[in-house]
Amino acid sequence: MKTYLEKSPREIKRLISSVKEVSRETKMPAYLVGGFPRDLILGVRDWDLDITVEGDGIGFAEKLAKKLDSRLVRHERFGTATLILGDRLKLDVATTRKERYPACACLPLVSSGSLAEDLFRRDFTINAMAIALSGKKGWELIDKYRGKEDLASGKIRVLHRSSFKDDPTRILRGIRFMQRYNFKIEKETLDLLKEAVASGLLHRVHPHRIRDELVLMLKEKDPSAQVKRLHDLAGLSFVSSKLKPGRQTFGLFKSVNKQVSWFMEKLPCYGDFEPWIIYFAALLRPLSREEAKEIIRKLGFTATAAKKILGCRRIGSKLVKSLKRRGIKPARVFSLLKPLSLEEIIFLRSLWSDSLFRRNISDFLGVYNRLRLSITGDDLCRMGVMPGPGFRKILNRVLVARLDGKAGGRRQELALAGKIIRQLQQRSGARCPDMSVSRQR
Ligand code: CTP
Repeated sequence: MKTYLEKSPREIKRLISSVKEVSRETKMPAYLVGGFPRDLILGVRDWDLDITVEGDGIGFAEKLAKKLDSRLVRHERFGTATLILGDRLKLDVATTRKERYPACACLPLVSSGSLAEDLFRRDFTINAMAIALSGKKGWELIDKYRGKEDLASGKIRVLHRSSFKDDPTRILRGIRFMQRYNFKIEKETLDLLKEAVASGLLHRVHPHRIRDELVLMLKEKDPSAQVKRLHDLAGLSFVSSKLKPGRQTFGLFKSVNKQVSWFMEKLPCYGDFEPWIIYFAALLRPLSREEAKEIIRKLGFTATAAKKILGCRRIGSKLVKSLKRRGIKPARVFSLLKPLSLEEIIFLRSLWSDSLFRRNISDFLGVYNRLRLSITGDDLCRMGVMPGPGFRKILNRVLVARLDGKAGGRRQELALAGKIIRQLQQRSGARCPDMSVSRQR
């Protein structure tokens, strides 16, 4: 294992040696568990580390956070803690534990247990390995369920026959790993999975847990293949009986995939872009607005995600027709697309392949939307405008004029802003509600 770990990035090696130090100081044996040993053996880079400790997990995490001078989030109820290290590295610390499922598809009752019990409570053999970080066993791979062998032969295998009954979300996890690594689900596991699906176990899971698993699937490299596998093996009636993706949906997924790759490659400067939203909107596209809303409500998406998913549905034919029109002015393209989210825009570009239409969208994303005016809010303040929603209105109008070639440099922008302010002042005499222009100058 040491040779595998030596190939890891420097930040990870540093982190692991700090874990070893804390383990030595506190005399609490510590192990790397879960997805990290799996991905290490597969040679996949993984920035999420799970540590399990024989002893007090939270106490261990506190000492480690102090040593690393990092932020610590405690989850007292679960006896776990998370260390946030920079923007990509995350480390979860837990106490070795065992789980008991009081009823099928319920959350487990957790109590502390041995390392063997901690490994046995896990979903698949490939996720039930541990790397010892301390004591005589330092760097040894603990692999009681032949996970390494299953990794080598590309198999997803449960540890015991009630695994899917205990936690039916493992059906989705199994399909996700299968598709991600191009593995097969081992014969007996596949029988158990089909049995669990046939008994309707997924219908008993809380919709929010289903949502989290679906989103993880849609965040994988090939969401289309993920959904197709899920549909083939489990259907989607546990989300809604209305959800029956067919050739059209998978065709749209393909187009979304191309447009998402285009966007990420050509315009990596845009942050805060969530492609899974576009795939989810594509999945809901054959449904009526009411049916889509019902699914979104049931799954309990955040207001922002719900707004974006539904936003993808309100793209009207008028907007599409305008964007396909020859000779449409940049300013018009800007004002049509500016109110949409990035996800809505990329969804739109996936729906129609008309070349002029796609060029207008790429011009918006690549040029118009990145154009910066020479004037700022400070200039507007100096001109007597009070900060508020009116700011954006004025600046957008100047920007639109500039896109149409009507305001070239700073002087012209200032002159135009002045003109717009005067117009708004006149109107605000007649009570223009969101325009606050100071008159005391
Ligand atoms: N686990 C489980 N059953 C679940 C969820 C998680 O047994 N329903 C266990 C697995 O051992 C898993 C570990 O908890 O490896 C960590 O879970 P998570 O971080 O969700 O998954 P990873 O295996 O790290 O997968 P990914 O690479 O997608 O993050």
